[in-house]
Amino acid sequence: MKTEITELFGIQHPIIQGGMHYVGFAEMAAAVSNAGGLGTITALTQKTPEDLANEIARCKNMTDKPFAVNITFLPTVNAPDYPAIVKAVIDGGVRVVETAGRNPAQVMPYLKDAGIKVIHKCTSVRHSLKAQEIGCDAVSVDGFECGGHPGEDDVPNMILLPRAADELEIPFVASGGQADGRSLVASMAMGASGMNMGTRFIATEEAPVHQNVKDAIVAATELDTRLVMRPLRNTERVMTNDAVQKLLEKERELGHKLQFEDIIEQVAGVYPRIMKDGDMEAGAWSCGMVVGLINDIPTCQELIDRIMDEANEIITSRLVGAVA
Ligand SMILES: Cc1cc2nc3c(=O)[nH]c(=O)nc-3n(C[C@H](O)[C@H](O)[C@H](O)COP(=O)(O)O)c2cc1C
Repeated sequence: MKTEITELFGIQHPIIQGGMHYVGFAEMAAAVSNAGGLGTITALTQKTPEDLANEIARCKNMTDKPFAVNITFLPTVNAPDYPAIVKAVIDGGVRVVETAGRNPAQVMPYLKDAGIKVIHKCTSVRHSLKAQEIGCDAVSVDGFECGGHPGEDDVPNMILLPRAADELEIPFVASGGQADGRSLVASMAMGASGMNMGTRFIATEEAPVHQNVKDAIVAATELDTRLVMRPLRNTERVMTNDAVQKLLEKERELGHKLQFEDIIEQVAGVYPRIMKDGDMEAGAWSCGMVVGLINDIPTCQELIDRIMDEANEIITSRLVGAVA
């Protein structure tokens, strides 16, 4: 399949694996890229810019296909060393960067000078237009369904994607709630040039996470995610568990008086315990509503081939048949 996104990134299929904390290691990115999609290493999972440089080098040893690095701009006081992270990406010869979180304007000149393609992930039309204005090459439009941070507007992709299509000139991919060939065709019908998946890629053979995480995804339904941290305007969609129930109880108790310190136990530093150790009650971890559509643990190649076969079948048989 040829779209503006496959052309822009030099990939075979219009399928991207979004940056994921403690999932987006070299093994994940290389498996997706080797299967013809665009895999992504998550910069902030690496403890230092030197570690990130090593992770990029490891990925290059595992694939000769393009892959991306996700740089998430956090609303934090102790900001990571972003200039050194950008330098590691440029020196590592990475061709695509996925930015997310705050506006990436400060790093754009460096990335553009190095000839890097930038796809900014955001959750609203206004932020998509801002990304276009500051020179991003594409946008990943993340709907309310998504795992991770859906923003505060709560607009699902059935509305957000056609709205983005009406306003944007640069290409965009649909992100949030994407799982299969049906997602891809539907997103393309609404104007997207491909799709970005997070949760679906965690339940793959190559995802470098504990088996408990994959099993939890397969066992869960579309009713098993919750929104946390809304009172802090840092809303995150997570898989429910006892820790999340405790967190929500605190939110109900304290209302708008809630401080980050009140829920630190459930959210700070929990990712390694969940993703590496498989301690599924350690705290809140990002997970999309799409979990209800995930019932197996294929290889990345099997998953992407299946998506493309299904998409082709829907377009060339079901849809063509409907208008014949
Ligand atoms: C476990 C997990 C961790 C994530 N970590 C990040 C991150 O560090 N930075 C980021 O930009 N997005 C992150 N995301 C969001 C994904 O890149 C992607 O936008 C989202 O998962 C899409 O929704 P889906 O899960 O419905 O496919 C994360 C998602 C998950 C499920």
